[in-house]
Amino acid sequence: MSKLWGGRFRKETDALAHAFNASLAFDRRLYRQDIRGSIAHARMLGRVGIITPAEAEAIIRGLEAVLEDFEAGRVVPAPEDEDIHTLVERLLVEKIGPVGKKLHTARSRNDQVALDTRMYLKDEIGEIAGLLGDVCRALLDLAETHVETLMPGYTHLQRAQPVTLAHHLLAYFEMFLRDIDRLRDCYRRTDVLPLGAGALAGTPFPIDRAAVAAELGFAAVAENSIDAVSDRDFVIEFCAAAALIMMHLSRLGEEIVLWSSREFGFIELDDAFSTGSSIMPQKKNPDPAELIRGKAGRVFGHLTALLTVMKGLPLAYNKDMQEDKEALFDTVDTVKACLAVLAPMLRTMRVRADRMRRAARKGFMNATDLADYLVRKGVPFRDAHAAAGRAVLYALEQNRGLEELTLEELRQVSPHIEGDVYEAIALEKIVAARRVYGGPAPEAVRAALARARARLENLFERGGRK
Ligand code: ARG
Repeated sequence: MSKLWGGRFRKETDALAHAFNASLAFDRRLYRQDIRGSIAHARMLGRVGIITPAEAEAIIRGLEAVLEDFEAGRVVPAPEDEDIHTLVERLLVEKIGPVGKKLHTARSRNDQVALDTRMYLKDEIGEIAGLLGDVCRALLDLAETHVETLMPGYTHLQRAQPVTLAHHLLAYFEMFLRDIDRLRDCYRRTDVLPLGAGALAGTPFPIDRAAVAAELGFAAVAENSIDAVSDRDFVIEFCAAAALIMMHLSRLGEEIVLWSSREFGFIELDDAFSTGSSIMPQKKNPDPAELIRGKAGRVFGHLTALLTVMKGLPLAYNKDMQEDKEALFDTVDTVKACLAVLAPMLRTMRVRADRMRRAARKGFMNATDLADYLVRKGVPFRDAHAAAGRAVLYALEQNRGLEELTLEELRQVSPHIEGDVYEAIALEKIVAARRVYGGPAPEAVRAALARARARLENLFERGGRK
């Protein structure tokens, strides 16, 4: 079978070259966008009189029938089909005859592929934002029940200061909320219609780009025909946003892995979200959390691949840009799969509040508060820090907590210590005292939770599911 562009060729394409060139195996997933875009293009061609209304009608009907064939799984690509654009056109001509050959008037595959990719990504950004919203809600629901659950806060993975589980979870909420916001921003720049740019220099036909934009739901029309077919910034921006999402997910995944170890024992994953070992009967492994952590790697890789593909490309379209699709598709698939599994994993995991609380009691996390106590008694902070340090050293030797030392013992490190010290270094009091805006006190966290719910819903209201 000869190529759609075969006119100026004397020879058939070499089979290897054809297979090397072809993108149908992966861009086939754009069939809906390709057909919807073509329908809008045909309708516009008919309306402005570039083709007759009857021709437009025939093409639109034909395209609708082709879409049905795709949906019903009736499409069988031939080895000669090169990409989704040529496949759809071939199927259309087979269905409605030579009039189908008028569809590609005033259009190039260069603006067509840019259109399809933008339409695809707009939908997927909405999907991913929705999944992020589900994860955010799971975090908020879990946080709501653990506003009083004390746990160690860490720096350097060493117990540092007591916080609550709710406060810790809200930190992830902030990351994912920023991710949703970043996606919205990326959506804005994706929401621009490239069709009408032609191969690179527009078209002499009197097309109506605004009408096509309106039909396809684009907020704007690309300003420059060369940029419209050369630009893949939106793909790269999305992959950068996806890389950040995956980085956040990998940190949460890592904490789930750590916390479900016997060493921590802070949580237990539901059986439905863990796996066993083929040799060790006792094992219950957090595989899904590990995979979430591990899959960050491929998404970072795709971002680097895309930047490298685009680097140094002369204007306008170059075939190199066909390489954008597998990277983009795999990024979308990976992020969606991770988010989809995370929300129910969070909702079903068992929190061992008792173990968290016990861990919070060990590790001298009230040492800063002992120093702060002395500061309130008039001791300069540096001296207070040293006195509290001596108390820790002494308690360590005794294998006791600071709060377990007698007043007499405590007064050895500083005569400024009085009976009210125990109240000042009690874990619950320490956390409750941190009422600062953004702090871990239950009072502050309850207010933060209420704000968080409103901020989340507001983000979605302002932009639909974008
Ligand atoms: N399959 C191509 C891609 O994904 C479509 C555009 C091809 N344009 C061309 N002039 N060969 O980029």
